[in-house]
Amino acid sequence: MATKYLLPQGCHLYLRSNFDDTDEKLYQAAIDAAEKAYAPYSEFKVGASALLENDIIITASNQENSAFPSGLCAERVALFYAGSQHPNIGVKKLFITIAVTDKDPTLVYAPCGCCRQVIAETEKRQEKPIQIIFEGHDNQFIQSNGIAPLLPFAFKLPE
Ligand code: THU
Repeated sequence: MATKYLLPQGCHLYLRSNFDDTDEKLYQAAIDAAEKAYAPYSEFKVGASALLENDIIITASNQENSAFPSGLCAERVALFYAGSQHPNIGVKKLFITIAVTDKDPTLVYAPCGCCRQVIAETEKRQEKPIQIIFEGHDNQFIQSNGIAPLLPFAFKLPE
């Protein structure tokens, strides 16, 4: 199927018809989570759901603050929660969804740069890539096999 933009290598179109039961569950969980966002300043509600290796699903939403940089994106709330509550359990999949009434069908709602760096660290910690699924244009989804396609040259400290 055609896309309106070039997908980086390692990213694929992922249609709702490709979803298995777990994907459906994760997608619904992310949508429900987005509704719980605290986003009074941007009114841009984001939901994330993470599937752990032990099949636990963690959900999170963005949490804003009147001191703007003190807020946090949904993805990082999810991954930091997973890392703190389940430090030795890997994350298999991360779904990201947006709950806005006027969703622009031409936009791709990919994770922000800071969240990409945190996803990279999570992969480093678990030594396994995370399948990342986010919203593309026209109700399509994009799946990235790990963070590398979205974040080449991720920052790493020398070992
Ligand atoms: N936001 C996320 O939750 N995830 C992202 O990847 C990008 C942006 C949030 C942060 C802020 O609360 C709102 O969306 C607008 O930037």
